[in-house]
Formats: sequence, structure tokens, C-alpha cells
Amino acid sequence: MPRAVISGTGAYVPTRVLTNKELESVIDTTADWILSRTGISERRIALPDEATSDLSYFAAKQALENAKLLSTDIDAIIVATVTPDMLFPSTACIIQAKLGAKNAVAFDLSAACTGFVYGLQLAVQAIESGSWRHVLVVGAETLSRIVDWQDRNTCVLFGDGAGAAVVSADGKGPRILGVHLGADGTEGHVLTLPAGGSRLPASLETVNGRRHFVRMNGQEVYKFAVRIVDEACSQLLDKLGLNYEDVDFYIPHQANLRIIEGFAKRLKVPLAKIAVNLDRYGNMSGASIPVALHEFSERQPRAGDKVMLVGFGGGLTWGSCLLEWQVD
Ligand code: UT7
Repeated sequence: MPRAVISGTGAYVPTRVLTNKELESVIDTTADWILSRTGISERRIALPDEATSDLSYFAAKQALENAKLLSTDIDAIIVATVTPDMLFPSTACIIQAKLGAKNAVAFDLSAACTGFVYGLQLAVQAIESGSWRHVLVVGAETLSRIVDWQDRNTCVLFGDGAGAAVVSADGKGPRILGVHLGADGTEGHVLTLPAGGSRLPASLETVNGRRHFVRMNGQEVYKFAVRIVDEACSQLLDKLGLNYEDVDFYIPHQANLRIIEGFAKRLKVPLAKIAVNLDRYGNMSGASIPVALHEFSERQPRAGDKVMLVGFGGGLTWGSCLLEWQVD
């Protein structure tokens, strides 16, 4: 059976930096509140002519280069996003055209902040079954387009960016040892974008009611996140017959530094063993994990390092994935 490896990663964030200080003149907030309650100092905001597929394209190109592959080598493109360029065609098809990946099937996946981990699971299964050899998995968002810039509870939290990974059958790169996914649709109401779909199509009423923006019950999502990060990791470790002591580094979804610090404290793991990039980028939903994974890969991990990715978010959804770096 072929074994799934991550043969290349890439990341791209827009050039425009929006600092906490600047937000003080947009909304009733303070730079100190944002930093102390979330850990975020600044975030990136897409330029007016940049859409999700544009950010994705740069991340995908870099992942292909790092994997030493041509776009025509790719069998499938999966884009995890809640901010597609449009409802259809899929952002994955738009990227397929931009890359000239003419041999690839292409589709989008909606699992919010867990989307990239969901995409990895699909890639692993297709590779292990022999259906595909190279799958491009992208997590990309332009959340600045769907946050309500009049709602201080949400607009200070999010940022734009894209990360990508090529998952290949065998070859060099970290092996994917396992993936564990979950969902609980009964609690989906705590994090939604109510209008613009078939339930509440766009109308003057939905626009005037500001219903095309993210709505979040922050405290409920926070409680869910704290519980599920531990569960998602321990259930995957149980499945693989491993323990927390076997994990060398964690790449969690970047929603709030307090969630990450709590996790570190419970596990008695130093913060240095956990990826943190939300200070620079905020919460990029589906892009948070692949961007952090790319940054971690650039630091040239040691052979044998085991790295846990763990995501949680809208749906509600969650997922974990364990990687092991290989000896070259
Ligand atoms: O990626 C998807 C997953 N998302 C998450 O995991 C987000 C999870 N939730 C969180 O990270 C936190 O709940 C938030 C950062 C969203 C909020 O932090 P909190 O400590 O739970 O604050 P809170 O909602 O309890 O609000 C505390 C106070 C409120 O004022 P009152 O009612 O106590 O007077 C808010 O109105 O802080 C106020 N507040 C703000 N003040 C200044 C809320 N947002 C702001 C703001 N600036 N931007």
C-alpha cells in the first residue's frame, strides 16, 4: 500500500498589515484589549483585487516547487475554505486553471477552521487506495470580506492568508501517520454566516440586517475549543498506540493564545513546543494550520520528529493529524 507523505508545503499572506492600534480608529476597542484577550498583535488583509484563489495560487505554487513537481503531476486539488471566490465554480477549479493543473480533479471542502485537516484525510485515503498519487490540499481564506467591521466581538480576531501542502504517494517528506476527524452539527449555531445560501438568499433585508457576516458566540466556541483540542489529540494517539510524550511539536488552530496556553499548561508542555503565529496573522480559519505547518517545515525539523496538527471550528468540526519527519 502506498504511504502518504507531505512532499512540499507553501504559504502566502497579503502584504497589507492591519495593526491593533489601527483598529482603535475603526471600532470601539483598544490594542491592549485585543492583545491581552487573544494574543493577536496584527493581521493581514487582502488587497481589494485579491480573492481567495489569488492567495491560494501563490501558496500552491510554492508547495509544488518544494515538492519538485509540475502542476500537471497533480491528480486532485482540494481547497478548504469558507470564503470561496464565489459560490461556484469552486475555488479549486479556479486555482486548477491558474496553475494549469489540467490533469487534476478539483473541488472545495467546507469544514471551517478544521478544513485543512479534513482535506488531508481525503488525500491520505485516496493515496492509500491507489486512486491518486499527488494531491494538492489548500487551506485559504479572505475572512476580511465576511467579518462585520462594526462588530468588535469578531472583526478584531480574523485575518487573511493561504497555506498549501502536496500529499504524495511515498517519496521524501514527513509521513502522515494518522488522521482523526469529528463533527457535531447540533452545536453549529454558535458560529455561522446566516445569509447568502438557499435558506436566506441575498436580499435588501439580509443586507440591511447585516446577515452576510460572521456571527459567533465567542464564549461557547471557546469552551468547545478547550475541550476538543485535548480530545482530538488523545483519540488519535490512542488509535496509533502512542502517548502525548511521543509528540515533539504541536500545530494547533490559531484562534486564541489563551486556548493554546491552557493546552500547554494541561499537558505540561513548554510553549516553545507549540506553533504560534496568531500574533502576526490573527485567526485565518482554514489557513492557520497549513501556514504554521509551512513555517515549521522551513525550520528544518529533525528526522523522527512527530508533529501533531489539531483543528477545531465551525460546524462544529474538529480534527487531528500526526506527522513524522523522515530521514533523508
Ligand atoms: O476559529 C474559530 C474558533 N473561534 C474561537 O475559538 C474563538 C473562541 N473565543 C474567544 O477566543 C474569546 O471568547 C473571544 C476572544 C472571542 C472573546 O474573549 P472573552 O474573554 O470571551 O470576552 P467576552 O466575549 O466575555 O467579552 C468580555 C468583554 C465584554 O464586555 P462586558 O460585557 O464585560 O462589558 C465585551 O463586550 O469584552 C468586551 N469586548 C471587547 N472590548 C474591547 C468584546 N470584544 C471587544 C473588543 N474590544 N474587541
